[in-house]
Amino acid sequence: MHIDFLTLFPEMFGYLDMSILKRAQAAGVVSFGVHDMRDQATNRHRTVDDRPFGGGVGMVLKPDIVKKALDELALPPNARVLVTTPQGRVFDQPFAKELAHAEHLVFLCGHYEAFDERVHDHLVTDEVSIGDYVLTGGELPALVMTDAIVRLRPGAVGKEASAHEDSFYHGLLDYPHYTRPAEFEGWDVPGVLMGGNHADVETWRRQEALKRTYLRRPDLLAIADLTNQDRAYLAALQRELAQKGRS
Ligand code: ADE
Repeated sequence: MHIDFLTLFPEMFGYLDMSILKRAQAAGVVSFGVHDMRDQATNRHRTVDDRPFGGGVGMVLKPDIVKKALDELALPPNARVLVTTPQGRVFDQPFAKELAHAEHLVFLCGHYEAFDERVHDHLVTDEVSIGDYVLTGGELPALVMTDAIVRLRPGAVGKEASAHEDSFYHGLLDYPHYTRPAEFEGWDVPGVLMGGNHADVETWRRQEALKRTYLRRPDLLAIADLTNQDRAYLAALQRELAQKGRS
């Protein structure tokens, strides 16, 4: 997989050379290209933006600059070109899985300014947001999405981490984790984790994940992959909570 970033702040991409993304590059899972859009400017001020037609505050990133930067990448026809914008489709784990199948991605990162609308209309395949808040630029969103996408590629993370993530694939929040010391400030570790019964531990973890998801993100349960046993546990939990509410 290859991922290109078009940006006005290439120095923000140091994160690509850390932790999992660094390992993934070394293992040949992914390669990255970071490109400064100012390199496409033709005047000595390296101008990439201009005043908006119709007036108003702010500047607009020029479509000819973006087109030249994309042309230079000589993209294959199946490349996905994503522009980061709060107006886009909200990024989530299913979207990350979809993009992890791509062989070539490009993130177009704006900063402060809007892109000329013809960029959105003619030069990109996807508009994507990381959530309902406004950031200063698209670099952090591009890095967030890259992290979530690359770790799904085979060989990017060790076996342990990917097995752990399977829980989220099935649409539930994670169960709680504990380690030594068992005795600490009088804060308990659940007894089942100390008992050595693997099946009991697995049941407890699944039920804790179900309970957390029910209490914190009930919207996720509607699309989660649930067994009959899960449903029976949730029905019992609902009865228990309703009873508590009445007493
Ligand atoms: N650019 C500014 N805010 C953003 C957001 N929430 N998601 C993606 N790109 C952005």
